[in-house]
Amino acid sequence: MKIAVSGKGGVGKTTLSSLLARYWARKGYRVLAVDADPDANLGSALGIDPTGLVPIASMNELIFERTGAHPGTVGGFFKLNPKVDDLPDALGREKDGVRLLVMGTVKKGGGGCICPESALLKALMSHLVLYHKDLVIMDMEAGIEHLGRGTAQGVDRLVIVVEPGRRSIETAAKVRELTADLGLERVAAVASKVRTPDQARFLLANLDGIELVGILPFSEEIAAADLENRPPSLDDPEIYQAVEKIAARLEPEG
Ligand SMILES: Nc1ncnc2c1ncn2[C@@H]1O[C@H](COP(=O)(O)OP(=O)(O)O)[C@@H](O)[C@H]1O
Ligand SMILES: [Mg+2]
Repeated sequence: MKIAVSGKGGVGKTTLSSLLARYWARKGYRVLAVDADPDANLGSALGIDPTGLVPIASMNELIFERTGAHPGTVGGFFKLNPKVDDLPDALGREKDGVRLLVMGTVKKGGGGCICPESALLKALMSHLVLYHKDLVIMDMEAGIEHLGRGTAQGVDRLVIVVEPGRRSIETAAKVRELTADLGLERVAAVASKVRTPDQARFLLANLDGIELVGILPFSEEIAAADLENRPPSLDDPEIYQAVEKIAARLEPEG
């Protein structure tokens, strides 16, 4: 199963991705959690020590070794399909059944960057989505730019996180538009930080046909964990029940 999580900044993508990853790991899946958001912080949400975890986009030697060109060079010749199948095991860091891979950011050049580092990330994303066997959860930015055309078709579900507020709904609509171009059909929404039934109704009324598969209520535990710089506890009953329901709806038969 491959799940990509997108949505406006700050809505709760990383929190939801990390909770789902930890939930499925507990259920016995080998989970690969991919941090594909340039503002990378999935590691801390998973409780994974970031020391020495270098984003793949900034591994200059690796990029050179695999593509045959130095990062940042544009227009030269390099391999568009570098070898990547060994990278998830080599470069990830594991904790409690969740392995984290940090993709990093590729600075965009004018007219769309075709540079060695973006070629490597593209190849790696396709590998993860199309060939990787275990459960993959990708914490994306709103742009879902890492997903190329063919790659997106290997994603089982794109989850768009929304919060009670108009801007996150607007972003959700834009993300859904992009998915049509990419051939990604299974799009669902999860609401986060919901405090009242009215807020849930607001979201339902404004999602414009995007299926709402669950609600992660506003949680004091999640808020406290953030202040204390630790992952929120999955044993918090309110969190566990919400995540369990969302996970059930996202599983392929659900
Ligand atoms: N359900 C929730 N209840 C309370 N706080 C939340 C909830 N979901 C996310 N947050 C808080 O909102 C902030 C942004 O969450 P985060 O998951 O980092 O968003 P994103 O990855 O979309 O930018 C964090 O401080 C996080 O602790
Ligand atoms: Mg995030």
